[in-house]
Amino acid sequence: MNQEKVIVIDFGGQYNQLVARRVRECNVYCEIYSYRTPIEQIKEMNPKGIILTGGPNSCYEEGAPTYTKELFELGIPVLGLCYGAQLMMHLLGGKVEKAPVREYGKTETVIDGGTDTLFAGVEKSTIVWMSHFDYISKVAPDFDIIAHTADSPVAAAACEAKKLYAIQFHPEVLHTARGKDILFNFVRNICATAGEWKMDSFVEHTVADIRERVGSGKVLLALSGGVDSSVLAALLAKAIGKQLTCVFVDHGLLRKNEGDEVEGVFGPNGSFDINFVRVNAAERYYAKLAGVEEPERKRKIIGEEFIRVFEEEAKKIGAVDFLAQGTIYPDVVESGLGGESVVIKSHHNVGGLPDYVDFKEIIEPLRNLFKDEVRKVGLELGLPEYLVFRQPFPGPGLGIRIIGEVTAEKVRIVQDADYIYRTELAEAGLEKLPDQYFAALTNMRSVGVMGDERTYDYAVVLRAVETVDFMTAEASAIPFEVLQKVMSRIINEVKGVNRIFYDLTSKPPGTVEME
Ligand code: XMP
Repeated sequence: MNQEKVIVIDFGGQYNQLVARRVRECNVYCEIYSYRTPIEQIKEMNPKGIILTGGPNSCYEEGAPTYTKELFELGIPVLGLCYGAQLMMHLLGGKVEKAPVREYGKTETVIDGGTDTLFAGVEKSTIVWMSHFDYISKVAPDFDIIAHTADSPVAAAACEAKKLYAIQFHPEVLHTARGKDILFNFVRNICATAGEWKMDSFVEHTVADIRERVGSGKVLLALSGGVDSSVLAALLAKAIGKQLTCVFVDHGLLRKNEGDEVEGVFGPNGSFDINFVRVNAAERYYAKLAGVEEPERKRKIIGEEFIRVFEEEAKKIGAVDFLAQGTIYPDVVESGLGGESVVIKSHHNVGGLPDYVDFKEIIEPLRNLFKDEVRKVGLELGLPEYLVFRQPFPGPGLGIRIIGEVTAEKVRIVQDADYIYRTELAEAGLEKLPDQYFAALTNMRSVGVMGDERTYDYAVVLRAVETVDFMTAEASAIPFEVLQKVMSRIINEVKGVNRIFYDLTSKPPGTVEME
């Protein structure tokens, strides 16, 4: 598909993915490339515009990430952000040095120019997000200063003739009041893009691509019921119907009713005409997990058992032509395959190919999408909202929400408690639900009294967090009455529980899950 795109050249900034997402919100396709990408490759892509990200370095220091000056002579509009802005000035003959005052956080900025171009529609005085210790003390020749702050003489500069723009602040973060407008001005107006990247056209193109590539071949997909694999199943169903077989391994560590929900959507009575195999493997998993207490060991066993079960099913199905994987764009970027991620994570979806399935090729139709785009595709394909907007759920499932040994009895307790908690939160009419919330089972039993009887039962712990990226999180301030109601329902309705705790721990030092 030959579509217009804007590319982001990544200098190691924390917001690289955010920049790309914002471009796509302008309905323009966007990809991230490391600053190590050769200029020839960039030229070949023929992007409509280029954005240089921020980064942790000082551009005047030896060995700092840089780029060839030729980039600014391609006739393609370039927008430098923070480090990217400083680098543009540095390379083109301006001056960057350590700032006398470090600017950090929301900062009032005065717009001095660019009011017909980059800053069209932006008020004379506006709030932006700053985070820098170096500053541009002198602009490069042919550039005009188009914004300043109390501490930065150059908050933004432009060479309108060449469509080169340098801004010291971060328009991609929401704290910059008119950030989206500024990026829209660049992406849509300055780069003269048509803005045709939309999820309905994505579905249409991708369905056609899949049909062409797969032909009459057979495709196998491991369906977990999570957002990515569900959307992928729906997309493949639309493209190739019965040529698709989904294997859904119910490891007995799913949330209450979840296995049946997945079967309801994708199974024989659901809305897709595909082959659906549900493997009820709970007993196998419980047997393997018996007596195991150590969290990493539990994770390992659950992962290995999945491979074994899936392998057995794949053998029954026989050779397939394609194995479909629900890889999405953040997986690709975080694996170091795009961009310049400082921390390169290994990810189960990228890299290692399963050697236990007899297949010829991998297909990854969601590989270029961000999570919110995957969700839009899911809605477009008619998947139910509860599935499309599911909160994150760990691959090892309740296996890591049960502290200590996993047993069928403990799974029942945590499923029932969690179900009550989720139901009550949904019904509490909170302005916004926490980003993630669940019940977990501690391994602690203690004495209580119920009726006139002494009890010696488990303690359930309730967790709810507010977070943007799940890398850091705060405990949610759930109203006390709601917690009390959840407490009383769990104690009354879930046999084996006589105590409820609420987890106040933030991350760090805690983690979101409680293994
Ligand atoms: P932690 O506990 O590391 O969790 O603070 C951060 C986020 O990641 C989810 N999580 C997982 N997701 N497989 C997943 O797909 C896993 O093994 C896994 N472990 C944790 C967790 O639910 C939270 O959203």
